[in-house]
Amino acid sequence: MLSTVIVLLTLLSCTSGENPAIQVILTNKGLQYGKHAGAGWVQEQLGSVTVPDVSGDIGTLIGSIHYTLKGIKITQCDFPEPSVEFFQDTTGFKASVSGLSVALTGSWMTDYGFIHEGGSFNVAIFRVDMLSVVELGRDPDGRLSVSSIHCEAQVEDVNIQIHGGASWIVQKIVDHFQGRIKSDVEARICPHLEDSIVDLERHLQALNVSFDVGEVLSLELPLSSSPLVNASALNLGLKGEFYSIKTHTEPPFEAQPFTMPPQPGYMLSVGLSEFTLNSASYGYFSSGLLQALIDDSMIPPGSPVRLNTTSMGHFIPQLLTMFPDLPMNLQVYAREAPMFSLQPEAGKLSVMGAAKAFAIFPNGTQTPLFTLDSDSLFSGKMWIAGGRVKGSMKMDNFTLSLASSEVGSFSTDSLKNMVGMGMKMVVLPKINKILGNGIDLPRMKYGQLVNSVLKMEEGFIAVSSDAQVSLTD
Ligand SMILES: *[C@@H]1O[C@H](CO)[C@@H](O)[C@H](O)[C@H]1NC(C)=O
Ligand SMILES: *[C@@H]1O[C@H](CO)[C@@H](O)[C@H](O)[C@H]1NC(C)=O
Ligand SMILES: *[C@@H]1O[C@H](CO)[C@@H](O)[C@H](O)[C@H]1NC(C)=O
Ligand SMILES: *[C@@H]1O[C@H](CO)[C@@H](O)[C@H](O)[C@H]1NC(C)=O
Ligand SMILES: *[C@@H]1O[C@H](CO)[C@@H](O)[C@H](O)[C@H]1NC(C)=O
Repeated sequence: MLSTVIVLLTLLSCTSGENPAIQVILTNKGLQYGKHAGAGWVQEQLGSVTVPDVSGDIGTLIGSIHYTLKGIKITQCDFPEPSVEFFQDTTGFKASVSGLSVALTGSWMTDYGFIHEGGSFNVAIFRVDMLSVVELGRDPDGRLSVSSIHCEAQVEDVNIQIHGGASWIVQKIVDHFQGRIKSDVEARICPHLEDSIVDLERHLQALNVSFDVGEVLSLELPLSSSPLVNASALNLGLKGEFYSIKTHTEPPFEAQPFTMPPQPGYMLSVGLSEFTLNSASYGYFSSGLLQALIDDSMIPPGSPVRLNTTSMGHFIPQLLTMFPDLPMNLQVYAREAPMFSLQPEAGKLSVMGAAKAFAIFPNGTQTPLFTLDSDSLFSGKMWIAGGRVKGSMKMDNFTLSLASSEVGSFSTDSLKNMVGMGMKMVVLPKINKILGNGIDLPRMKYGQLVNSVLKMEEGFIAVSSDAQVSLTD
């Protein structure tokens, strides 16, 4: 019985995978660039590497010699460009270095009974070959995980030179090390590499998969499925859903699958689906933030139309007789969350709003007058210029209809023309000024995006970009 339940649960959890709303693709160009930057950084770090002191005992027929090697420094390092490639077989990477050579220098000391000796030494390690295979995965919380699944290290030759000291002791040290330093070094490389991968995994485990974006929304970015790797790219599918911090309610729509077009000419691509935008919109809506109270003080001073019953009487004549010369206010709100729909070359935004009008008596009491439904359809474009995401939008359609009235029915045609005009002449120019100014592309601590392009596609926005990384300060 229990096992049946477990099998059912497992099946359910396998089939209920959600579509990623954000996809991040690292191309081979990006991988090679990252490797090159990483190799340069490693080369630079090698100059300042401190090698721990080594000590031990060498057994001889006449007692043991205790030795210490200290002050070990790397004097030269030929670090050939490593090779790194996507490795589909293990969903990860395969990295190798071949022909690495290192020269070290340091001082040695021995204690043999009461004989203390010392001097300097040089070690040359020739042609080290390393191969590492790393697997990427997804942990139960949706974090990227990385683990070493194969490592090989080979050292072709090691040469040791000891200077100073009595010749028989020196000979003992040389004999001791010559025979085993090659296997010692070989045996140390993989555990060392595996340690740094465990370290990297620890850093990944400490990353948050949910972030607060401002006061209202949080963005959840766990992996929605295991990473996908093929010979030319790594694809990470992320949940990419905004929630209202206050309500955390699930929107009544779901992420649709989308396929990013391959962009091998760029280092990375990010696909942002309309679901992500719509979840943000729904987050605002369900937080109760898509509403506002508008009074006459918010109408631009130059406007010929004021928010009072005299002025509105031009459109709704009965106001003049029923509620003469009273200020008004409007409670405007979204009837539903505004929805984005992305199309090649353009995006559409539909806003279903409503406005409830009130007249305000001198004693402060408000009386409801009527409620209008307004449906607007906007279309817009987005692009990247000068490292900033910019946009523009226009209004494609605007309708106004009387939803209910406390003052009897009236025609909304002239009111619609007036509001439509206000949108086109006042509101949209303001929005377009902000969109035209744009926002900066996200910056990272160690790099920035360059040559970025943005393309609108069916259901998603694709941003492809190169990066410029500077790992040194
Ligand atoms: C991760 O999230 C927790 C809780 O939201 C927060 O306290 C912590 O500072 C975050 N850590 C990082 C590294 O952002
Ligand atoms: C490899 O994966 C990328 C990203 O998911 C995809 O665009 C590309 O078509 C894939 N290539 C092959 C040969 O399957
Ligand atoms: C109402 O608006 C008209 C302009 O249409 C203005 O002349 C008048 O002073 C306003 N009345 C009040 C009470 O604000
Ligand atoms: C305020 O004035 C209106 C109109 O004169 C009246 O109908 C209403 O009862 C008054 N309200 C209060 C609370 O006095
Ligand atoms: C605007 O929307 C209304 C109602 O949906 C429709 O009847 C009308 O044809 C639309 N106008 C344009 C210009 O698309």
